[in-house]
Amino acid sequence: MDFFTEYYNIFRGIHEGSWAFLVVLFIVAFVLYRSRKLKAATILHMITRLFYLFMLVSGIGMLVALNFNLFYVVKGLLAVLVIGFMEMAAGKAKRNENSLGSLFIVLVLVLVVVLMGFGVINF
Ligand code: HEM
Repeated sequence: MDFFTEYYNIFRGIHEGSWAFLVVLFIVAFVLYRSRKLKAATILHMITRLFYLFMLVSGIGMLVALNFNLFYVVKGLLAVLVIGFMEMAAGKAKRNENSLGSLFIVLVLVLVVVLMGFGVINF
């Protein structure tokens, strides 16, 4: 196996293995913030942020190997937007503001990004 295939597979493994954890961790942190369990929520939120990093680094690593293929650049930008919305939703839940609308936006965008990842949505 040549070097680039090997490096691509490592990033792909990290990406595949992390996305579901990211989504679940975010939801648990969100629910904990809304239930006013602030200490537990803060810890889960910190771990969620670690997974943003895994997704970003592995995603950008694959993008480099794919020569910034336009479709995946769009998917990556959308994913960065998802991360932004996740932070907004978590922040609102923490501040005890009405946050269900922002949760809904996050879940819809996550669905789009995941469907793009699996090639169900394509262009
Ligand atoms: C919220 C963050 C993200 C989620 C939930 C997500 C989700 C996914 C999923 C489910 C896949 C399919 C994995 C598989 O085949 O099992 C995928 C693939 C991919 N993602 Fe992401 N992703 C995220 C962030 C990013 C970012 C930030 C980038 C780039 C900067 C990126 C670039 C890619 C690329 C290039 C693939 C193609 C893998 C392949 O088919 O070989 N992703 N993503």
